[in-house]
Amino acid sequence: MQTHWWHSAIAYQIYPKSFMDSNNDGIGDIRGIISKLDYLQDLGINVIWLSPAYPSPLADEGYDVSDYYGVDPRFGTLADMDELIHECNKRGIKLLLDLVASHCSDEHAWFKDVIKNGKTSPYYDYFYIVDVPADGTLPTNWRSYFGGSVWSPLVDENTGEGDKNKLYLHSFLKKQPDLNWENPAVRAEIAKNINWWLNRGIAGFRIDAIINIKKAFPFKDYPADAPDGLSNISNMLEEAHGIGEFLTELRQKSFDPHNAFTVGEVFDIDTNHISEWIGENGYFSSMFDFSATIYGAKDGFWHNKEKLTAEAYKSCIFGAMESASKAGAFLSNKLENHDEPRCPNYYLWEGENEGENADKSGITDEGKKMLAGIYFCLRGIPFIYQGQEIGMENTEIIAIGDVHDCSSQGQYYSAIEAGLTNEEAMYHIRRLSRDNARTPMQWDSSAYAGFSKGIPWLPINPNYKKINAAAQLNDKNSIHAFYKQLIALRKNPNYAQALIYGDFTPYLPNQKNLLAYTRTSKERIGKKTLLIAANFQNEPQTMPLTSPIKKILINNYEDIKTAENAISLNPYQLLILKL
Ligand code: GLC
Ligand code: CA
Repeated sequence: MQTHWWHSAIAYQIYPKSFMDSNNDGIGDIRGIISKLDYLQDLGINVIWLSPAYPSPLADEGYDVSDYYGVDPRFGTLADMDELIHECNKRGIKLLLDLVASHCSDEHAWFKDVIKNGKTSPYYDYFYIVDVPADGTLPTNWRSYFGGSVWSPLVDENTGEGDKNKLYLHSFLKKQPDLNWENPAVRAEIAKNINWWLNRGIAGFRIDAIINIKKAFPFKDYPADAPDGLSNISNMLEEAHGIGEFLTELRQKSFDPHNAFTVGEVFDIDTNHISEWIGENGYFSSMFDFSATIYGAKDGFWHNKEKLTAEAYKSCIFGAMESASKAGAFLSNKLENHDEPRCPNYYLWEGENEGENADKSGITDEGKKMLAGIYFCLRGIPFIYQGQEIGMENTEIIAIGDVHDCSSQGQYYSAIEAGLTNEEAMYHIRRLSRDNARTPMQWDSSAYAGFSKGIPWLPINPNYKKINAAAQLNDKNSIHAFYKQLIALRKNPNYAQALIYGDFTPYLPNQKNLLAYTRTSKERIGKKTLLIAANFQNEPQTMPLTSPIKKILINNYEDIKTAENAISLNPYQLLILKL
């Protein structure tokens, strides 16, 4: 297997709107990020993935790009971005931007020109535009990801300009028209833009919603799956073939010449096809493992999504490791991102119950550290999402009117339409809303958590006095300190080979709520085996050992209770042992 610099990456995702505000307008910005680079360097990460900061109406918080060549004034200037690239490089940190190319914004010049000039616009075929069917129905019954039909009239709602007899396709919000990748001119525009950024000194891209660039033709209806009569758009995507041609072209024209690192947001692919995506000659360097994210998701409605148990998580990650290793591929592993709830709530909910189980919650420092240890030692690249390293939790969401996230809005109305009460619907919004991840970073215990001196665009999580970076920086038992230990271990030359390239083998996979595996490397001096073991429950359990412990590398408790050929693990105890 060919080795690459990014195999030893430890990545950190920044959501610019919520990271750090330098000019006190309540919105995070690039100068704020620059001011926190020392913090990140001290943590030990060596790659940053920056969510979109391009000019945008921010209808989907920047994932609706109105100009691929700039920076939104709320986030700063292009000069600030260049400085960020420079300051990152100075610290040995590589910067990835977010490539949002499956759709743009309805305020992008291309789309505005189409609204104005209709069919005579040179950009008409940059989009999927069809005539309103003669009987006034919709061309297809696909449901957009954020709820409602994917078809909207080709009209600017504010000015009335456009053509109401035509419809355009948007897989996401109405303000996010899909780009027509069948058109070579569109692909050329995207390739040109990628090269332009890579030439500015970034190291690569995280690739947004990439599965959506290929549709199944001819367009047709799929079986309706909810009271709205529509069908989840993934039903169409499942039948779409040929995305590989587009992605190979992109790789050859843009990524390869720059030796760029690319990590795809790839949902819904058959795991047997992983090698096409991220094998030795795959479209991308890596892609995220979303198996735990989509677990129990069924039809895409939050109110039907099952909760993830320890056993289910184990089968997700063990399954992902198995298919990746068959394909010789490097996954990107994560617990959180800007689209998901905070990991303590998502993974440690068992025991969140009220009444007699109230004190059994796993949402403790030990539980948070356990989660970190489990995913950090998997084969692949660990990504940390801002605030995860200090154990940030889901926020308080009282009423749907207070929710900012557009997908939560759509999910709420679908739940109500399916017959849930307001309280029932809000329960699912609270557990899965994207706002949970988007509340501002909690830097310290001062007003607005040190994120800004102005009122933040999204309220700070009320727990900021207890959970914040400043309180943890000088505490050797903090969650932050634990992440630092894990990062240092991955970089330690004695263990890096095992943790980066070592074989992955499940350990006692049938022992309930024990989540354990070994990483084994063959090195010149001999074989090295690390055992990563977590007791994923709120009760002790005994783990048999087949070989003696040579060294305890990481422990989220003070001590370790060993018996003969066994360890008695505390609730949510996590150990990394050298065997
Ligand atoms: C991706 C992004 C998400 C966005 C969507 C549409 O899933 O991560 O935030 O809403 O694409 O661009
Ligand atoms: Ca600002």
